[in-house]
Amino acid sequence: MSVLKVIAIDGPAASGKSSAARSLAEKLGWIYVNTGNMYRAATLAVIRSGVDYENEPEVLRITATMNFDCCIENNKSVARINGENVESELNSESVNRAVSFVARIPDVRNKLVALQREIGQKYSVVMEGRDIGTHVFPDAPYKFYIDASEEVRANRRGLQGQEDSVRERDRMDSTRKTAPLAIADDAMVIDSSDMTLDEVVDTVMKTLGLNGLIPAS
Ligand code: CDP
Ligand code: CDP
Repeated sequence: MSVLKVIAIDGPAASGKSSAARSLAEKLGWIYVNTGNMYRAATLAVIRSGVDYENEPEVLRITATMNFDCCIENNKSVARINGENVESELNSESVNRAVSFVARIPDVRNKLVALQREIGQKYSVVMEGRDIGTHVFPDAPYKFYIDASEEVRANRRGLQGQEDSVRERDRMDSTRKTAPLAIADDAMVIDSSDMTLDEVVDTVMKTLGLNGLIPAS
């Protein structure tokens, strides 16, 4: 499997992964893949079906039969359910509350990880999530773990006007059995608590330059 063109970005909730990954992909002309939105779309399907998101067999019944796909549009991944682009509904309070319950189920993860690997083998990607460097592409040549203090992250989410218990999601995501949130041994950790987004992106770009991916500026 060729994984030479994968930049893996992992980190806890509201650490700035999506913003950094989107900006990097734009600068490099690569595809931006938001794997959190895949778990969020599966969660939306569960919520729409009316089943209890904590009831694993029921969640599995829905996710096993849901018509889920993720296509690339305008250089970014777009999650769809039954052909419907659901991206605008993925950051609601109800999805924030339920997503870590759905994402802890191994069969749900297997289905979405297969899609993520398919995309990563087809395109040059900046892929962000929780387990990209540890599990989805353990051989990715470029891995970053973007962090920030819990207080800073909760504050960032609040400024976005979103109800989101980042602490509870972090707890569930880091303690689940399958592919938990963890720092890959070979990832570069960036604590963005006191950094602007531009500073984070510059740090990554400089590191990539040092690694020979792009000419150092
Ligand atoms: O943007 P934020 O960091 O708040 O969350 P996200 O990246 O959209 O991910 C939403 C949820 O999906 C996470 O809290 C995890 O439960 C799950 N997730 C995961 O388990 N593995 C991934 N690769 C990405 C997300
Ligand atoms: O994807 P993730 O949940 O990790 O974070 P995000 O959605 O990229 O960022 C959450 C919010 O924090 C956004 O409004 C970003 O603009 C902001 N942010 C920031 O203020 N400073 C940074 N260094 C990174 C992100």
